[in-house]
Amino acid sequence: MTVFTYESAETPPAPLRTIWRNAAADKLMVINQTLLPHRLQIETLTDVKSVFHAIKTMIVRGAPLIGAAAAYGVFFAYRDSKTTAQITAQIDYLRSSRPTAVNLFWAIEQVVLAAKKGQTEAEKTAFALAAADKIIEDDIETCRQIGLHGLPILQALQAQKKGERINILTHCNAGMLGCIRWGTISSPIYQAAALGIDIHVWVDETRPRNQGANLTAWELGQHGIAHTLISDNTGGLLMQNKMVDAVFVGTDRTTRQGDVANKIGTYLKALAAADNAVPFYVALPSTSIDWTISDGLAQIPIEQRDGNEVRYVQGLNTAGQIDSVLICPETTGALNYGFDITPARLVTGGFITERGCCQASEKGLLSLFPASA
Ligand code: MRU
Repeated sequence: MTVFTYESAETPPAPLRTIWRNAAADKLMVINQTLLPHRLQIETLTDVKSVFHAIKTMIVRGAPLIGAAAAYGVFFAYRDSKTTAQITAQIDYLRSSRPTAVNLFWAIEQVVLAAKKGQTEAEKTAFALAAADKIIEDDIETCRQIGLHGLPILQALQAQKKGERINILTHCNAGMLGCIRWGTISSPIYQAAALGIDIHVWVDETRPRNQGANLTAWELGQHGIAHTLISDNTGGLLMQNKMVDAVFVGTDRTTRQGDVANKIGTYLKALAAADNAVPFYVALPSTSIDWTISDGLAQIPIEQRDGNEVRYVQGLNTAGQIDSVLICPETTGALNYGFDITPARLVTGGFITERGCCQASEKGLLSLFPASA
């Protein structure tokens, strides 16, 4: 296991979280995910602008964590603005940071609703802070519950394989780093491993930002989970050769009918899984459900990012420095969609939520969340 020196005066909490604040609430600390796995550096965010920058540049990323960071951004907006118009402008600015993860919009809304209950400016600011804190604590519990509900799936696989090693394939990072603590897909995996279930994870590298190679591999290693990095094109072959028992992915936004937006490439894994009768599961905190829409392809905004993320690859150079290299001709342009849509019919295993498991359909979701009917 790698031993890191924290390159920050701020002491991270134990057990490690991806985001925390100091007692005075004038500093928000986050792990800088653009530097992992090579450096574990903590950044300090102190205002709306720094929160926006952290979300936009993916210092923080992953739907629940984006929401948590934005929640504190709203608190900073209330704390620092002089007029209602200024608060609205700051909140709109936060909303424009990334378009796909619905947790961003959900979390902002929660904090705004809480702040509006205050009578004075000081009260509004205090209510906003309490709401942001609650989002963090609730996410930890939500992910813990996802772990409890997902665990029987892994236990059943273990029984099916008569105790032989279980192989899970995952794409992107839907682990602790995308959330606050347990992660979504990682929570059942961590709980299964703690019970002694022999589990191994195939980690898609997840080009272009390599969240699999950089983040999932790091976090699984930190938790002592056996894992192997594969290129994004390898999963299909592994499934054909019965080397994958289940696919577990996260989501940035899921519609009420069960269409799933997740990191680009997820759809191709779902197609390969369906063709090979490999169950495909989505770990789904209810904060990632967009109850206002039904058709994922038509209604979920897909983020387009800078083509240079495709043209360059970042890594550690031989001098031990984090560096980027160009992988195509200087003049070649690139198209960079951040997410794709997996239709509900391909989520063959179903959803694992904090309230239990269900079919990937409106009926399935409403069986767990009837108040959203
Ligand atoms: O672009 P990213 O790294 O923010 O995308 C993250 C993902 O697609 C995750 O799989 C998703 O947010 C789930 S995190 C629990």
